Amino acid sequence: MCGIVGYIGPKEKKEILLDGLQELEYRGYDSAGIAIIEGSNLHQFKAIGKLENLREKTKNYHSEGFGISIGHTRWATHGKPTELNAHPHLGQYSYVVHNGIIENYQALKEELQSEGVDFLSQTDTETIVHLFEKYHNEGMEPFEAFKTTVSRLEGAYATLLISEVAPDTIFFAKNGSPMLIGFDGNEVYFASSDTPIIGKAKEVYYLEDGEYGYVQAGEVHLFDKNGEKSFSKQTLSADKISAQKDGYRFFMEKEIYEQSYVMTETMMGRVLDEHIKLDELEEGFFDTINAIKICACGTSYHSALTAAYLFERLAKIRCDVEIASEFRYKEPLLTKDTLFITISQSGETADTLEALKMAKRAGLKSLSICNVDNSSIVRESDAAILTRAGIEKGVASTKAFATQTMVLWMLSLYVGQVKGTITTETLRSEIDAMRHTPKALVVTDTLHARLHRLSKRYLHGHGFFFIGRDIFFPLALEGALKLKEISYLHAEGYPAGEMKHGPIALADSELFTIALMPKTLHYEKIKSNVEELSARDATICAISPEPFELADDFIQTQHSSHPMVEFFEMMVVTQLLALEISVRLGNDVDMPRNLAKSVTVE
Ligand code: M6R
Repeated sequence: MCGIVGYIGPKEKKEILLDGLQELEYRGYDSAGIAIIEGSNLHQFKAIGKLENLREKTKNYHSEGFGISIGHTRWATHGKPTELNAHPHLGQYSYVVHNGIIENYQALKEELQSEGVDFLSQTDTETIVHLFEKYHNEGMEPFEAFKTTVSRLEGAYATLLISEVAPDTIFFAKNGSPMLIGFDGNEVYFASSDTPIIGKAKEVYYLEDGEYGYVQAGEVHLFDKNGEKSFSKQTLSADKISAQKDGYRFFMEKEIYEQSYVMTETMMGRVLDEHIKLDELEEGFFDTINAIKICACGTSYHSALTAAYLFERLAKIRCDVEIASEFRYKEPLLTKDTLFITISQSGETADTLEALKMAKRAGLKSLSICNVDNSSIVRESDAAILTRAGIEKGVASTKAFATQTMVLWMLSLYVGQVKGTITTETLRSEIDAMRHTPKALVVTDTLHARLHRLSKRYLHGHGFFFIGRDIFFPLALEGALKLKEISYLHAEGYPAGEMKHGPIALADSELFTIALMPKTLHYEKIKSNVEELSARDATICAISPEPFELADDFIQTQHSSHPMVEFFEMMVVTQLLALEISVRLGNDVDMPRNLAKSVTVE
């Protein structure tokens, strides 16, 4: 979502901030801003839109000597993406940047306004800087004023504040939104994830919820509700595997092509000849577990839905799936024999993280499936299995979904294995199928060219229905989500058998049906569902290994012996179709409007 970078030290600060923000830009890109204090000189720049606008605006400015600095790239939550709403927010003599949401900002704002404070922006963030200045103006020392400010905030925040009254100090606080501190000798960095400081800081400390403090003269003073505390730093890897487009037009395109390779990585050392090996899970991890509950959002939720079929079918263990934002407020009944699995590409999704904390409070054992080591969700979980997809930069998730689904497939076999609910024969044939998936994910020139050609027929109409049955229903949901995210066309995923219970009323020649018709699973059933739509003149684009005569368009997939292999091959088709439609519509594929890569607000 929004991104934060901060730096205190002698180096050129503008470049550090802009380079750091560049790394975070894919998470939120409505506007960006930086504030730097060098001695008594205060500089602030903001620009709406992409970071390049801020670069342009600051091209003639260079910081000199020791100083303090903060920067932010924004994804609007309160107030439109305007320059006034961009961070850093200014009081009379201080600046603040913030990720998250201050839930009680309205009450705080009214209180401050009644005391004569003028607000320039529509943001919740601005309350932080005015509160700080109010307490300082009342006579508190800067840190005391900051501490009192933090004690008034409700909601989620990661925030940095600098002020002319403490020109050698950065104040920080974290609760619910990620933030870390990087160290290189006397130089100190802040960031909302580690990518901006990799290669700069040598050591790192990941702040915990409820921690706050200040940094001065290379020293970090860290506090929580019990007062000042010590902390230990971790070494930060120096490898910047910063993703580049490598000749592809978009990161999303590159990431679709990478799926075959990363799938092999995901399986490496885990999918063995006769069994599944998951070193991340200690022996006996499943001993007390009789059911699984999976919680996730968006695309990760779709991989969870797929997994529910696999857990029950292969491992014979009860599994239900919840959308994290719904789960949080439904007062769920949780039993301690349930394993709570969260799935998240970023590991920072606020709703998923909060759902995990709820489950932990209820005493459930937790496991996360995540693409980012050291992310909040990974750190919060009892155990974690990393998906090994590599950095995913396209906002529309592709390879993360593929690898999440693979990990869940492996996990379902693992559970069957340790619980003795899967036969050796089934295990072997599943493993055999897994080994065919990297091949099924290869994007051939012919396939890509075909989807490119076909895409021109799907730029209008009054909507898309992606339909499928069984595991192809979550894939239909995912196909529809991909398309709407980057094309802005309306698309729905639906269980094929449900169409006749209502949605078929929409069928006419301008209703585009993308039919997922695998040969290995309920082919005859889905075929008759598609025939029903065709009889109502819906335009049918069939994806299947089996030619289908009623299809207006047909994309032929390979004949395979396993539904999951068909699943992955069809997944690639839906991803490429969405990509090509989006390109033809002239959209920004990697940074679609209104979206952000990492959704750290509720
Ligand atoms: O980082 P997470 O996997 O927790 O994110 C969940 C969703 O926000 C994410 O999958 C979103 O739906 C993507 N934009 C899908 O392409």
